[in-house]
Amino acid sequence: MGQELKGKVAIVTGASRGIGKALASTCASLGVNLTIAARQDGPLREAADEIAKKYGVSVLPIACDVTKLEDLKNLVDKTKEKFGKIDILVNNAGVSSQYPFCEQPIDDFERLAHTNYLGYVRLIRLVINDMVKQRSGAIINMVSGSTLCDPLPRNFIVYSSLKVGLRAFLKGLFWELRDYGIKVTSLLPGVTDTDLTGKLKEVTQDSSRLMSTEAIENAVKFALTVPANVCPLEISVINQQTPWTAPVIPFEQKHPDK
Ligand SMILES: NC(=O)c1ccc[n+]([C@@H]2O[C@H](COP(=O)([O-])OP(=O)(O)OC[C@H]3O[C@@H](n4cnc5c(N)ncnc54)[C@H](OP(=O)(O)O)[C@@H]3O)[C@@H](O)[C@H]2O)c1
Repeated sequence: MGQELKGKVAIVTGASRGIGKALASTCASLGVNLTIAARQDGPLREAADEIAKKYGVSVLPIACDVTKLEDLKNLVDKTKEKFGKIDILVNNAGVSSQYPFCEQPIDDFERLAHTNYLGYVRLIRLVINDMVKQRSGAIINMVSGSTLCDPLPRNFIVYSSLKVGLRAFLKGLFWELRDYGIKVTSLLPGVTDTDLTGKLKEVTQDSSRLMSTEAIENAVKFALTVPANVCPLEISVINQQTPWTAPVIPFEQKHPDK
């Protein structure tokens, strides 16, 4: 994928609100036509109308639950029916939850795994053969800045470890796809002010520490506009005052002699 984006076609998942909607708008601002996906039809249609009107591109809303393989197949088929190709995939739909592991319901593991890991890998598998045939494409994936923490943030270890696995998968995928001119990029955002974080306790109590989506939008613009022979493999954009990690040993940050 090179500099010229006008008339390209992207699928953006989880695009009815939050980071996904912001990234769909970013793609639209670059002249990219879109299919946007989320489970609830109403907010999705509203987002599609808003983006199409603002940027003058074509936006197709498709209700889709990324945990369901049939829905993913339908998403890809409908996009190809309408636009004839897929140049860019923005894998973004995701869910989170906050539990001490001993209290986390087993169903919650499955919900996280099917949305945040399998949903991404399956959708890539469904678009990849066409990109290989085209010998071009960009696959941008919303991973998480929490994967930079070691040990992972307390109360988020299932969510974050799935994102660690996803990040490892995507780095490996880059090697497999680079000879086909396909770029694979992982975005590692810090804690961002969206509905997802609004539901989390403690982490977002101090809202002055939250990022807006702006830096992530800029990161996607960068990923899509670098020269054709460059791939931004991973872009981390984290909060200057990240809320993920409180100091483990709360001593002052200064030399002991001072
Ligand atoms: N916010 C943060 O601090 C942060 C930090 C790092 C990484 N991330 C990642 O960024 C991504 C977006 O997060 P966000 O903060 O923008 O969340 P959000 O505001 O809650 O939005 C999530 C979007 O995904 C859709 N969605 C959820 N489950 C879905 C499913 N099973 N199938 C299809 N669509 C689904 C939602 O629509 P419906 O509910 O209608 O389906 C919505 O459009 C996630 O992958 C998240 O892990 C977020």
